[in-house]
Amino acid sequence: MTETTPRRRLLPLLSAHPGGRSAMTCRYRCGDACFHDIPNTSGNDYFGDVVASAVSRRSLLKAGAVIAVTGAATTALGQEPAMAAPGKGGPGNGAPAGAPGLRFDAVAPNTADVLTPPPGYLQDIVLRWGDPLFTDAPAFDPANQSAEAQQRQFGYNCDYLGLLPLKGRQDFLLVANHEYTTEGMMFPGYDPDNPTAEQVATAWAAHGLSIVAVTSGRRGKRSGALDPVVGHRLNRRFHTGTAFELSGPVAGSPVVRTGADPEGRTVLGTLNNCSGGLTQWGTWLTAEENFNQYFAHAASVADPVVKERLRRYGMSGGASERKWERFDDRFDLTKEPNEANRFGWIVEIDPYDPTSTPRKRTALGRFKHEAATTRLTRDGRVAVYMGDDERFDYFYKFVSTGRYRRGDDRRNADLLDNGTLYVARFTGSSPAAEITGDGALPSDGAFDGGGEWIPLVTSTGSEAVSHVPGMSGVEVLTFTRQAGDAVGATKMDRPEDVEPSPRSGVVYLALTNNSNRGVVGQAGADEANPRTKNRHGHVVEVAERRNDAGELAFGWRIFLLCGDPNDPGTYFAGFDKSQVSPISCPDNVTFDKYGNLWISTDGNALGSNDGLFGVAVEGEFRGQVKQFLTVPRGAEACGPWVEDDRVLVCVQHPGETDGAAFETPTSHWPDGGTAIPRPSIAVAWRADGKKIGHA
Ligand code: FEO
Ligand code: CA
Ligand code: CA
Repeated sequence: MTETTPRRRLLPLLSAHPGGRSAMTCRYRCGDACFHDIPNTSGNDYFGDVVASAVSRRSLLKAGAVIAVTGAATTALGQEPAMAAPGKGGPGNGAPAGAPGLRFDAVAPNTADVLTPPPGYLQDIVLRWGDPLFTDAPAFDPANQSAEAQQRQFGYNCDYLGLLPLKGRQDFLLVANHEYTTEGMMFPGYDPDNPTAEQVATAWAAHGLSIVAVTSGRRGKRSGALDPVVGHRLNRRFHTGTAFELSGPVAGSPVVRTGADPEGRTVLGTLNNCSGGLTQWGTWLTAEENFNQYFAHAASVADPVVKERLRRYGMSGGASERKWERFDDRFDLTKEPNEANRFGWIVEIDPYDPTSTPRKRTALGRFKHEAATTRLTRDGRVAVYMGDDERFDYFYKFVSTGRYRRGDDRRNADLLDNGTLYVARFTGSSPAAEITGDGALPSDGAFDGGGEWIPLVTSTGSEAVSHVPGMSGVEVLTFTRQAGDAVGATKMDRPEDVEPSPRSGVVYLALTNNSNRGVVGQAGADEANPRTKNRHGHVVEVAERRNDAGELAFGWRIFLLCGDPNDPGTYFAGFDKSQVSPISCPDNVTFDKYGNLWISTDGNALGSNDGLFGVAVEGEFRGQVKQFLTVPRGAEACGPWVEDDRVLVCVQHPGETDGAAFETPTSHWPDGGTAIPRPSIAVAWRADGKKIGHA
């Protein structure tokens, strides 16, 4: 299944759904978000209109000019962030070539029902859905599931994953999200119109989070495999019945008070946790994303203000897909209109304290949070970058008021309750007429420009000061999308994961796709989102002024326009397109220690299974995208984690193809035979025990 030169022809399309997702994934993951009306109906300036404003353009470009292409990147902290020059050539003779850390034979696109790493690499499963985490947990039995069992087992559809250090070099604390459930594939005889109480309770238990100690100490020295330590004192499962504390200015406010929680301070559960990040002080940030789909009967809400707030967050219908409202009133918006305001937050968890209560950090705003990744400002404050994953929604940054103090956990614990939330406005450097919508570069040779972070609200513990006329501080934090609408934030093509390069400080933002860009009634192509009906997505580099995460001006440039390299509308930072792997729908991103960007995909629209790709962002191989692995049929590659000697991915929703059900699985990964598919964390490493991606 592997070849050195990536396949060059366009593969047939397998799905009419946005990106290449199956209808099943659209339905269960996002509540068919792409088939509903676009929630953002604001009249924010389209890009061309902003460019026409010469004054704003000049002032922004002045700030952005510092990231003009300057040749080889010299981006150590303290210098101006300089983006690397476009790559000049191919990988040269002899395989596997490439940047350090990426010297492997690229995996070819394929539709196999296996995980395919490069030749010379081995693989194993770390954790499967249903694996016991505690000594009293029963073994997984798909025919006899229960909520009680699932609360003691690894949950469904893992997405984000992170590894935190434990004592010694062999042991880690693995943290993972369980984003959503696909009931028809989980339960025998599932009737979507009449779910049973036990099925619903089991799905509640299969959502949430896991913290699991893992060890490499049970295999040989050369093995990269990791085994869960069942019953470790730090193992935890968080599910829809676990108590979470609201923290920051929204805690206790009227918009989060409910019948079950009149104080508005304690929420049961975390929902649809997608990606996340780790902080400098060893905590885990996990992002509540498509929470809207769990709440029913928005159409019957009478109050027009409440109704509009719900609509802006994608809630306008009747019964929910999973019918949870039949079993708990809090999912019925006509009975508990504030319950939905208690989801859509960034949650901070201390994985090292098994008695800690996770906190929903309201100072970071409420939207369909994809992820939250951190970088320190020059003076030691914490910047948190966050995308709102919806077509035409926004890119955000929070900057703490206090400084991070190494080793001072007590002070660091309050950093994310105090600070200012900003939203991004991008401005292009080229005339609007040169942004033709087909990916053709403008005459200055780059999709690039300047931008600014627009302040929305400043939080000081329990208080919030609004910077948006007509909205209170609590309103800005709770209905952040409407605040972004009011200040003219830039409508983006689904901001997914974002990650600052630990080497250069340049921030990489994945925009996964937007098939509605440029259709009648919607925003057209602009320089930061330059393709109409953008099916394959793109990756943007953002460099803040003086390379300081605390600055409010930035320059930006498109790094990748994804798709088949034979498509003239693709761009790989100027690298020779005959030497790159096809890539579609970039989603989760991470960096390796060499400064290479690793990108996992969601919904490959080129006909291949999704996968994980590595790409150099500096030097002669800048832009050489190389596929490291593909995931099995119907699956998405999530939560990549890259170490010296192993690469981990969450294989989310294997076999989630149209028509698949518990009785008629379309994947048997990872157990094989006739088994139902099980979302799992997989790990790959070199058979010879050497470092990943070295010749
Ligand atoms: Fe859960 Fe935006 O992907
Ligand atoms: Ca330009
Ligand atoms: Ca994602």
